[in-house]
Amino acid sequence: NIRSVRGRRVWDSRGRPTVEAEITLASGKAGRAIAPAGASTGSGEALDRRDGGAAFGGMDVVHAVDAVNGEIATALAGKPIADQAMLDTLLIGLDGTANKSRLGGNALVATSMALLHARAASEGQPLWASLAAGRDVRLPLPEIQIFGGGAHASRRVDVQDFMVMCPAAGSFAEALDWTAEIYRAAGVMLKEAGKLQGVADEGGYWPAFAANEEALDFLVRAIEKAGLKPASEVGISLDIAASEFGRGGSYELALDKRKLDTGEMLDLLTSWIKAYPILSIEDPVAEDDREGFIAFTARHGADIQIIGDDYLVTDEARVRQSISDKAVNAVLIKPNQAGTMTETLAAANAGRAAGFGTIVSARSGESEDVTISHLAVGWNAGQLKVGSFSRSERMAKWNECLRIEEQLGRDAVFAGWSALPVKRP
Ligand code: PGA
Ligand code: ZN
Repeated sequence: NIRSVRGRRVWDSRGRPTVEAEITLASGKAGRAIAPAGASTGSGEALDRRDGGAAFGGMDVVHAVDAVNGEIATALAGKPIADQAMLDTLLIGLDGTANKSRLGGNALVATSMALLHARAASEGQPLWASLAAGRDVRLPLPEIQIFGGGAHASRRVDVQDFMVMCPAAGSFAEALDWTAEIYRAAGVMLKEAGKLQGVADEGGYWPAFAANEEALDFLVRAIEKAGLKPASEVGISLDIAASEFGRGGSYELALDKRKLDTGEMLDLLTSWIKAYPILSIEDPVAEDDREGFIAFTARHGADIQIIGDDYLVTDEARVRQSISDKAVNAVLIKPNQAGTMTETLAAANAGRAAGFGTIVSARSGESEDVTISHLAVGWNAGQLKVGSFSRSERMAKWNECLRIEEQLGRDAVFAGWSALPVKRP
């Protein structure tokens, strides 16, 4: 049973305050977790509680921490740790709002994740094994950012994430080996071109490019320079995060200085899919552009993975709607969009039942917390998106997967191509 719940203010990878929750059981076993934070948030997400005012740009979380130490601690005290769904239902009811704004999505998700860790500790198991409960697991196919853009790099380019996926690798460890060579090659090439300007929020190179297509060209050349084969070994994955520059069927591309309607936006993406080895595209149009999602998936859903992030905000009902609409073929799973682990899992399961790709994802604001690595393995999601291949809040997640792969030993299975809702080329 739960003995105590403690909240504290810690700092995230952007140097902003965030919430840590620590659950201690009567047995003395404990679990701890830190809430992440997005920058390009969907409007339907659970809302983080921020204090406003002058301190830390209004981003302080004193009230959310107080909620953990006060109402949440009181409500959870003495409750059995075994039933996560019951505990999450209690948290949802305690908050009482549709968007978790009263206690704060940040307070709730830190608490809910810490409960999972405490339960695993009480079972004497690593979190991934506790979540798997004997079911099959796979090491996830990683989606790793090489160039950052959009809201994570002052809109230097329109596209938010230029990423690589290595589905042909033989193991999770080998996928990281390949990615490390690509990341290195991209850095050397940028330096030679006089375009190396540091890294963006998630550790990808800051994209001093004149066009989105220049980033794509660079990426293909970096894959080749790393000695790997574009398409058959390594694919490109893009998070357009189109809600950041479009709404109402109108898209304003900063780099190209032009305005596109939905049809033109889709044609632009089609031209990229034809010209580059693209395996996956996230949020190709804005979160309010349902017709655009449906048209894009009708056109490309058989060939590439099409992910809803801002569009689905890890919400089971939205995932179900997107299944009947055929609006996407994959769902991004971000625990703090949902607010509790039970709701997060429900969204993932709804998508998986429909054959969707399932990508557990970090936020642009992260920490040393590695819960999502365990979710990706333990829930057998198949894919994991964490940002780039630098900065320790990113590397901590990749490194944790290496440890899990080692723990699994000969039983370790790398998801590879099997994670994608499309046929192997
Ligand atoms: P965010 O970006 O965490 O800033 O929302 C991540 C994403 O859009 O996938
Ligand atoms: Zn996204």
